[in-house]
Amino acid sequence: MRIEPIRSVKGTRDLLPPDTNLWQRVEAEAHLIFAAYHYGEVRTPILEETALFARSVGADTDIVMKEMYTFWESQSEDEQNLKDAKAQQILNAFRTRQYRFRTLDALAGQTKLNPTEIQETMDRNPSLFRKSLDRDASGRDLYALQAESVSLRPEATASVVRAYIEHSLYNQGGVHKLYYIGPMFRRERPQKGRYRQFYQIGAEVLGSQNPFVDAEVLEMLVLFLDRVGIREYQLLLNSVGCPTCRADYLKVLRAALEGVKASMCGDCQRRADTNPLRVLDCKVESDQPIIENLPKIIDHLDPECRRHFDRVTRELQARGLSYQVTPRLVRGLDYYTRTTFEITSGALGAQNAVVGGGRYDGLSEMLGGPPTPGIGFSVGLDRLILAVQAAAGLKSEAPLAAYIVWMGEAALPPAAGLARELRAQGMSVEIDYDPMKIKKAMGVASKLGARFAIIIGEGELSTGRYQVKDMGSGEQQEVAPGNIAAHLKEIMNGK
Ligand code: HAM
Repeated sequence: MRIEPIRSVKGTRDLLPPDTNLWQRVEAEAHLIFAAYHYGEVRTPILEETALFARSVGADTDIVMKEMYTFWESQSEDEQNLKDAKAQQILNAFRTRQYRFRTLDALAGQTKLNPTEIQETMDRNPSLFRKSLDRDASGRDLYALQAESVSLRPEATASVVRAYIEHSLYNQGGVHKLYYIGPMFRRERPQKGRYRQFYQIGAEVLGSQNPFVDAEVLEMLVLFLDRVGIREYQLLLNSVGCPTCRADYLKVLRAALEGVKASMCGDCQRRADTNPLRVLDCKVESDQPIIENLPKIIDHLDPECRRHFDRVTRELQARGLSYQVTPRLVRGLDYYTRTTFEITSGALGAQNAVVGGGRYDGLSEMLGGPPTPGIGFSVGLDRLILAVQAAAGLKSEAPLAAYIVWMGEAALPPAAGLARELRAQGMSVEIDYDPMKIKKAMGVASKLGARFAIIIGEGELSTGRYQVKDMGSGEQQEVAPGNIAAHLKEIMNGK
């Protein structure tokens, strides 16, 4: 009977050599450049409380509503013993995968109970349900299960700020600069450049509101892109203001949408009521002319936010960084204030955003921490690698310095000893585990791209000098074993 092989989960993939070498090289550049700007690495868990993302990214964003991988950490005894059919219906409604937090109305739609019955049932079973601290975009109460809900992180900014608060880093004073590299999870429809497990390199600065920091963050990002070989991209820049001026803008936007929403797509009609900023993200072709004519947030900034934005653009110009002010750039996460940006690359097709980022001056407070302004970005590493490959930037590079060919059992111990000595000196060395004919062995050395082949046979053992063949030039020399390391290094360093 044929056994069906198990394949990787939809939207996830294996990264294999030599590609992983390119990933390592790109990551190594990030470590170097971020360290030069005095950032330290932070490693936070992949699993976090669901509430962390509901409160920061936003309880009614696509990411939290539809895309998170969420698990219930524990089932209480009460839940297991539950007899009440109504409570069971509500529990089941919460379990439907795409919803983590719901309003009473949303639960009514799922359970055929009316909101009053749901409220009463919840009040009767206080150990099972809880009112969330978060609210939906219209300010209505959200409800969740009492059991702890954890999610695979869809992004890491919230985790970094949680860690900042949890470890009271603010007590040390000053500015904290942190970066991370790791996998994120979003249950999106997979396509080229869009995966359910993808990787980000991100950097966050906590503790400064100064527009100089915004410009420096972008300067570091551009230097990093340059180092990995990406020179053609667009830096899209916007300001989404602060909660005060955004509230005023939202009134203007809602009023403008009232007049036009009937001719927009279904999603926009819904968003016009629930989260009007998201209308600006809509990609539906026929909506575009309408969106272009909607009021722009950049024209409704209060004087402080306007000054901040002008300082950021001045600082960017002073650094010779070009950017394009893009009033529609509002980003799909709720925590942003003031500066927002994206970097897109033409090489990528539909999924063209390589980097997303911005300021989040209220995030620490949203998560129960002290007021702490912040700004950062995340590079989508999967997309960056595609762009690096398209731009023929950094390349995979795993050079094999030497391939050791041995003939006759007596040659194996000295061959293995030489391999160990060269490897200990940091050279990449391959040796055959089984005896091989010289012709075949030289073929393998050449196929593996070895810079040198070192041949040890009966003759070499009796003279005490091994054959060292430069596979590029074809030149062959006899070298005493003790001198081989120095000999290879000399040639490789071009001396
Ligand atoms: P984001 O725009 O959601 O922002 O993601 C940043 C980047 O991650 C995107 O530009 C894209 O390159 C990559 N990305 C997102 N989703 C996927 C996916 N499904 N497959 C492949 N790549 C993807 C954030 O995550 C914020 N935390 C950025 C930030 C940091 N803001 C302030 N600090």
